[in-house]
Amino acid sequence: MASLPPAIRNPEVKYTQIFINNEYVNSVSGKTFETINPTNKQKIIDIQEGDKADIDNAVKAAQEAFKLGSPWRTMDASKRGRLLYKLADLIERDLAILGSLETIDNGKPYKNACGDVLFAIDVIRYYAGWADKICGKTIPINGDFFCYTRHEPVGVCGQIIPWNYPFNMFILKIAPALSAGCVCVVKPAEQTPLTALYAGSLIKEAGFPPGVVNIVPGYGPTAGAALTHHLGVNKIAFTGSTEIGQIIMQASGVSNLKRTTLELGGKSPNIILSDVHLDSAVFWAHAACMENMGQCCVAGTRTFVHESIYDEFVKKSVQLANSRVVGDPFDEKTQNGPQIDAEQYNKIMELIESGKKQGAKLECGGQIHGDKGYYIQPTVFSNVSDDMRIAKEEIFGPVQQIFKFKDIDEVIKRANDTHYGLGAAVFTKDINKALTIANSIQAGTVWINCYLAVTAQAPFGGYKMSGIGREFGEYGLSQYQEVKNVVVKLDQKNS
Ligand code: NAI
Ligand code: MG
Repeated sequence: MASLPPAIRNPEVKYTQIFINNEYVNSVSGKTFETINPTNKQKIIDIQEGDKADIDNAVKAAQEAFKLGSPWRTMDASKRGRLLYKLADLIERDLAILGSLETIDNGKPYKNACGDVLFAIDVIRYYAGWADKICGKTIPINGDFFCYTRHEPVGVCGQIIPWNYPFNMFILKIAPALSAGCVCVVKPAEQTPLTALYAGSLIKEAGFPPGVVNIVPGYGPTAGAALTHHLGVNKIAFTGSTEIGQIIMQASGVSNLKRTTLELGGKSPNIILSDVHLDSAVFWAHAACMENMGQCCVAGTRTFVHESIYDEFVKKSVQLANSRVVGDPFDEKTQNGPQIDAEQYNKIMELIESGKKQGAKLECGGQIHGDKGYYIQPTVFSNVSDDMRIAKEEIFGPVQQIFKFKDIDEVIKRANDTHYGLGAAVFTKDINKALTIANSIQAGTVWINCYLAVTAQAPFGGYKMSGIGREFGEYGLSQYQEVKNVVVKLDQKNS
């Protein structure tokens, strides 16, 4: 990675209000909530707390911006692209501020926070290029007709995002929506509102018309639910837990059949065959579990290792986990910061206890790290069997489960024995085995000899209960479009 701008340890928090119509406003109720720094459990600042009335105002602003004849609807598609490019440039200018705000709000290492922002810039530029390349088709239908399709923006998009990649998630929701010509009401996660709110100022500075992007921080059951039930919202895009994904799908159904895309949990298998370069496979498998403190929907938390290399693999994995640097996210050497909050911390510790009780071997970690903040030591379990809770449930923490397998048919069956299907990986030098496994795994992404290679250009999403729809790439853009079919009767008399 190119060298990063110096971090700002105590960044000024300028934006704490709800962003509607390109203006920052207080909540209708007057309520606020605290956002916390997870490294020390201290309050950073009070944030205006959005609820139904604020969602109503935001949706109204978005509907106004989306009206036929509005500046946004009459803007050339290429101009939409230029606004997105401009937004990317402004984000690049403010990289240090955004990276630092993300670090205090989320706890992730500053270098990773900046990496997330740089990735978000990639995503915006990718979708900026698409804006004037969105084309329908002409279709040779039967009869004397001229038939064509238009790919129209779906309309007002409600976008509900989690706290694990707060800025990334914000951008990866709004960028394809804006490229397609939609308008957005975004609800950031209550744990991490700072970078999305900051981005509001950049959206205004870039020149997007008022109401095109609105940002309402608040809680899920209040602001989030108001958005998913709102009759003025045409589409919901959600990233978060499978449990809430199911609630959101219901809300979309009982309100007005919102187009709904969901990016949910996972318990992704990572299959290591016997012929691998051991150190490399150990490294990738470790990163697949520990990156972002394990708070990653696609974390490769079921590491299946061939029995012939199992003991050696476990030994090396434990060495890596023990050498992982946990601490101050502003320290350049730090690889892991704290978990996001008390709820997540408790969930992870409870699952670690269950692993011990159910007979898995705790190889290392399993304890709190330090004496303040929500830090957990990188943890490795071996001798994990498929029926244990740590084998089935999403842990969302720095915890690796290592399973033993004998043959390929067996491991494919075990890898697929889950209601999740987000990611998977296989490590081998044998291309036949690699592709056989890749074809057999029920997951939206399969990596071969790598992990976490998520890019702006290629689709990402879940099979089964890991989600509905795809994000990124052309597939992701299509989720923000309605296809209109236009049929013209040709007049035979003139021919
Ligand atoms: P969550 O699914 O409750 O929260 C995600 C977002 O949904 C937040 O913005 C939240 O305010 C909103 N939300 C919550 N309830 C809602 C409702 N009834 N209607 C509309 N919006 C609602 O996830 P949470 O509680 O933060 O984490 C729980 C577990 O979910 C984690 O332990 C992890 O297993 C999983 N998770 C998965 C993520 C992913 O990237 N797929 C991201 C975050 C969490
Ligand atoms: Mg929740």
